[in-house]
Amino acid sequence: MNLKEIEDSARNELKAAVSREAVEKLRVKYLGRKGEITAVLRSLKDMPLEERRRVGPEAQSLRRDVERLINEKVSAIGSASSASGVDLTAPGRKVSRGHLHPLTLVDEEIRRIFKSMNFSVVEGPEVETEYYNFDALNIPPNHPAREMWDTFWLRQTRTDADGVHTHTKKSPRQSALLLRTHTSPMQIRYMEEHNPPFQIIVPGRTFRYEATDASHEINFYQLEGLMVGKSVSLANFKSVVQEFFKRFFGGQKIEFRYRPAYFPFVEPGLEVEIKLATSGPEKGLRPNGAGKRQGTWLEIMGAGMVHPRVFEFAHYNPRDWQGFAFGMGLDRLAMIKYKIPDIRLFYSGDLRFIRQF
Ligand code: FA5
Repeated sequence: MNLKEIEDSARNELKAAVSREAVEKLRVKYLGRKGEITAVLRSLKDMPLEERRRVGPEAQSLRRDVERLINEKVSAIGSASSASGVDLTAPGRKVSRGHLHPLTLVDEEIRRIFKSMNFSVVEGPEVETEYYNFDALNIPPNHPAREMWDTFWLRQTRTDADGVHTHTKKSPRQSALLLRTHTSPMQIRYMEEHNPPFQIIVPGRTFRYEATDASHEINFYQLEGLMVGKSVSLANFKSVVQEFFKRFFGGQKIEFRYRPAYFPFVEPGLEVEIKLATSGPEKGLRPNGAGKRQGTWLEIMGAGMVHPRVFEFAHYNPRDWQGFAFGMGLDRLAMIKYKIPDIRLFYSGDLRFIRQF
């Protein structure tokens, strides 16, 4: 490359450079030890005297010019950046990415595990009718068992014949609307539309009109499970549940305990308690009074064999089919997994909490 070409490309490249870094690269490219102008100056000694006399001064002056241009450019960039308040030479700022809420992480993990065990995932409405939430689950109106689920009833607005809007209170046969108190209504909805055998889970949001404390929220998540077939038994239930928890707690040693319990839609009914061999929940997490210290029993789900009456409501013949159902608290599982002492932290919107996941 002759001097003219070197000069042209140096000027063009300098013009295009916008950062100090880019300009310094050009300084190296042209004036550095192996730079293009330096190379010309070095080659002078091998030139015939005539040529050396002609090229020498030209090369020297090009070196000075390029040096001057580079220095000018550096100060131009410096003043431009200080004038606009932007430091063009500063390294890029990292864009912070969003991340998933701990309850979403647990929800996704649970779905993944059950899918790998051949369960299908289905979802249902959060606004439910009294029929699906209670009646069809063998909890008739005025049955004392309704007290187990403190309910948010929805006021329904109806337009009268004369066009006046009136609020109607619940009336059992009209099937009033409510916020579902558990995910169990999906048992009926699913069986109405599908024939056995099948195995499903139903993750979803549930609501209860009750006082909140460290392990109770008015809005929480449940995971329903339902498996129906010709000869599905409690032994199948035990193996499914134990396999699930083994995977969910990543191989930590877990002990299981099954206690009889009453739910109108199962017979027999039971509650499952687990005990983690290593670390237990922190103080504060005491679902249903259990679990004060590490290594104590924690009640995590209700379960049982589907009641024949429930099959009848779904138009299955209870003589032909049997199955198990369970319902567990997703928030409580997340609390155990991440050692979260208070369920209300999930919904607090406190970034110091959320950013830990
Ligand atoms: C039920 O809701 C039954 N539907 C479970 C069931 C399904 C039994 C199928 C038999 C067959 P229970 O009210 O115990 O049961 O609630 C189940 C789980 O939800 C509890 O073990 C607990 O983990 C969680 N849970 C209940 N109330 C709350 C609350 N207020 N806040 C957070 N979690 C709760």
